[in-house]
Amino acid sequence: MKALLSVSPGGPDALILSEVPDPRPGPGEILVRVLACAINYPDVLIIEDKYQVKPPRPFAPGTEISGVVEALGDEVTGWTVGDELISIVGYGGLTEKLVIPAGSALPVPGGKDPREAAGLLLTYATTIYALLDRGELKQGETLLVLGAAGGVGLAAIEIGKILGATVVAAVSSEEKAAIATEAGADRVVVYGSGPFDDAGCRALAKQLKEAVGPDGAHVTYDPVGGDYTEAALRAIAWNGRHLVVGFAASIPKPPLNLTLLKGCDIRGVYWGAFAEREPDRHAAHVRQLITWWEDGRITPRIDRIYPLTEGGNAIAHLASRSAIGKVVVEVSRR
Ligand SMILES: NC(=O)c1ccc[n+]([C@@H]2O[C@H](COP(=O)([O-])OP(=O)(O)OC[C@H]3O[C@@H](n4cnc5c(N)ncnc54)[C@H](OP(=O)(O)O)[C@@H]3O)[C@@H](O)[C@H]2O)c1
Repeated sequence: MKALLSVSPGGPDALILSEVPDPRPGPGEILVRVLACAINYPDVLIIEDKYQVKPPRPFAPGTEISGVVEALGDEVTGWTVGDELISIVGYGGLTEKLVIPAGSALPVPGGKDPREAAGLLLTYATTIYALLDRGELKQGETLLVLGAAGGVGLAAIEIGKILGATVVAAVSSEEKAAIATEAGADRVVVYGSGPFDDAGCRALAKQLKEAVGPDGAHVTYDPVGGDYTEAALRAIAWNGRHLVVGFAASIPKPPLNLTLLKGCDIRGVYWGAFAEREPDRHAAHVRQLITWWEDGRITPRIDRIYPLTEGGNAIAHLASRSAIGKVVVEVSRR
């Protein structure tokens, strides 16, 4: 079978499409034929050894998959050959087949497109945890979403609306603004591309303050970092919660006096650790997401679909800041 392997640290160009032996499922494991693999920001980082997880090489990147059960290991119950599933695998998804623990997979509701299915879990599970558990977002509050047309950003717009917030989406282009509005944002602000000088940072803060209104944002969802974080902190409400979700621009160093002046909290969001430490709460979130997905209240927006042979280009596209929603690699057909 084929797998797109990282054999040495480097960018997407360094990935090599290789022939490798089919894996075999051990006790409690499932052999999955991958239908689609969604690309996420960790894929950009992991191949360059810049992510917190550093797998032994060679490894295939690819964070989450949809697939079909091809064989079962001993002691597996609840799954049958031919069942369709989704799973967050962390890495290894850019391959034709892989083995996963049976307990890590979820059945796909009938009729769902496997390419959409592949992109459901990571962004929405991060976001429901961020907004409910860390942000304590309440009905009627104002939610500011930075990078709002990215993978987690679009999920934050949709879940923010379901939770009854007024959602202000901040993005870097008119094209992204249109998609954020389509996803349900109440207001959209188009900011510059950064990095900014002092005057640019002040102008950005003013722009965000005007967008969220005089009371400020009760919750800020920040997957971007860079100069955007300090500007967003200046636009936060008294008792506001600034959610540190990611660093697509860079890791910011905001002045802590802002937390005193604003009476606000800066709260970290580490979904992976949460899912491991609080599996029951995480499982409840996932059940909720599947229900919303079946009811059409959340829908992963697919930006582009690539074949496995172009998996490197898929990762490069996500890194380029031009993706609007999910980037997906279609590995095989049903
Ligand atoms: N904490 C967690 O548990 C968790 C879970 C999942 C993801 N994350 C993190 O969340 C972040 C976003 O993930 P994602 O999958 O939503 O990525 P994405 O689809 O690429 O979205 C990131 C957004 O960041 C903005 N951005 C600003 N500067 C950028 C730059 N220099 N390069 C690229 N994008 C830039 C872009 O929006 P504009 O152009 O509109 O500014 C882009 O749409 C990543 O850092 C990821 O690691 C964290």
